[in-house]
Amino acid sequence: MNYKNLITTYNDGILIVTINRPKALNALNQQTLEDLRQLFGNDALLLDDLRGVVLTGAGEKAFVAGADITEFIGLDAHEGLDMSQNGHDIFFRIERFHRPVIAAVGGYALGGGCELAMACHLRVASEKALFGQPEVNLGLIPGYGGTQRLVQYVGKGRALEMLMTADMIDAQKALEWGLVNHVVPHGSQVDKSVEILKKIAKKAPVAVAKTIAAVNAYFDNKKDGFSQEVIEFAQTVKTDDFKEGASAFLEKRKAIFKGN
Ligand code: CAA
Repeated sequence: MNYKNLITTYNDGILIVTINRPKALNALNQQTLEDLRQLFGNDALLLDDLRGVVLTGAGEKAFVAGADITEFIGLDAHEGLDMSQNGHDIFFRIERFHRPVIAAVGGYALGGGCELAMACHLRVASEKALFGQPEVNLGLIPGYGGTQRLVQYVGKGRALEMLMTADMIDAQKALEWGLVNHVVPHGSQVDKSVEILKKIAKKAPVAVAKTIAAVNAYFDNKKDGFSQEVIEFAQTVKTDDFKEGASAFLEKRKAIFKGN
């Protein structure tokens, strides 16, 4: 795996992806977005033993401080449309990825950075994490799904307040509001994310993938989530892992899942 702005390490089925532009607080420029597209849309799909992904930011200060504002100068409406659609497409690939993706947030997660964290399946924040959608300060609204996903996590009133005031919330408030799953001491956010992924890795992989698909269907207005659950349930019943899981329970032993 070779990227300009991502560092990857792969061990025991867990891929750790670090967005590596610390001098710009890991701001998402077009190159970084293309790297993420290449990774989630291609390379990571080909890793047979992959069980989960941790997405984090380099340096001590930021997960990602937003879209790269230096690329905004001279942007016209057509380019704005392309930029937003491109971001949506990449973030949907993350949200719909067949393996769990956890954002390990150790600092600023602002604008496109908060949006990126929200596209992941879970979020682990360090005590120093700060979340916000400050686009109105720039005369913009979020363009990578922030107006939709923030409402899903924190509710309409809190989302509107964050979006219209541009105020940041700290890790503790993000936990209280349901934006993050865990708050951990600063520096241990990646380890905690790996620990969660290792726990999930012991479960049947097809069942985990179908869980993601069924839960995503709740938020997809083109799908009926309950019907989708029926379809995904039937798919899991077809697997050898289901036979193994049920037999292991009845035989009072640990299941050995093979991923099919
Ligand atoms: N884009 C480009 N560069 C950025 C950046 C961004 N989003 N955020 C920070 N940087 C750069 C700074 O320009 C600075 O670069 P120089 O050293 O070359 O001057 C460097 O990162 C360090 O930043 P600061 O000196 O500003 O650090 P600070 O600790 O004083 O402040 C901060 C940190 C509060 C996060 C501040 O940098 C900030 O407000 N950043 C912008 C946050 C923002 O508005 N994000 C939303 C972007 S729009 C968006 O994301 C739209 C969308 O939905 C798609």
